[in-house]
Amino acid sequence: MRILFATGNEHKVTEAAALLQPLGHRVSPLVVNGTLPEFIEPQSDGLEAVAMAKIEQARSMVEGTPLVGSAILVEDSGLFIDALDGFPGVYSSYIESTIGLDGVLRLLEGSYDREAEYRAVAIIDLGSKTLQATGVCRGRIADEGMGEQGFGYDPIFIPEEGDGRTCGQMSALEKSALSHRGRALKGLSELLKSPSK
Ligand code: IMP
Repeated sequence: MRILFATGNEHKVTEAAALLQPLGHRVSPLVVNGTLPEFIEPQSDGLEAVAMAKIEQARSMVEGTPLVGSAILVEDSGLFIDALDGFPGVYSSYIESTIGLDGVLRLLEGSYDREAEYRAVAIIDLGSKTLQATGVCRGRIADEGMGEQGFGYDPIFIPEEGDGRTCGQMSALEKSALSHRGRALKGLSELLKSPSK
């Protein structure tokens, strides 16, 4: 299936393609009139509500264009740190661009509890219906940033099921095999295969 990923984050597209291409899907960014989507995210406690708002906005973006009827994918995700009661959570993007990774490391200074998880909600709009899947990746926050791959908090996030490297030290394929996004997208691909879809 050809899937148009509505996101302004090219890293998300690379990761989705690394995971979904071997499963038989072609993933490319949704570009409408030469522009990548920019979403207005509602103030919300939940990734799911934000992902639903993104799918609605993506639908209106393609209205009246030849892309109407294409399978459109959106995703909302964040980093939830146990010792900070789930902060930054739905504010991950804002916190990354304000206090940054160093600021987050400072918030955890002296804390032995460095456990955290990445969470993702992915929704695909097939025109006739939408399918939704979630993914979680448990891990811990490193003492310092390591690696230059990936994006966002990847240099300071060490997945529990990995080999001790941060996501920033992994290729897109390695990260997708155990990441929250990878799991959510794998879930969607299972739903796409099921006869009741
Ligand atoms: P979104 O585009 O609104 O879903 O923003 C999610 C934010 O959460 C990103 O800007 C990052 O700060 C953080 N985030 C989500 N997934 C990841 C990931 O896979 N690696 C690193 N940071 C992530």
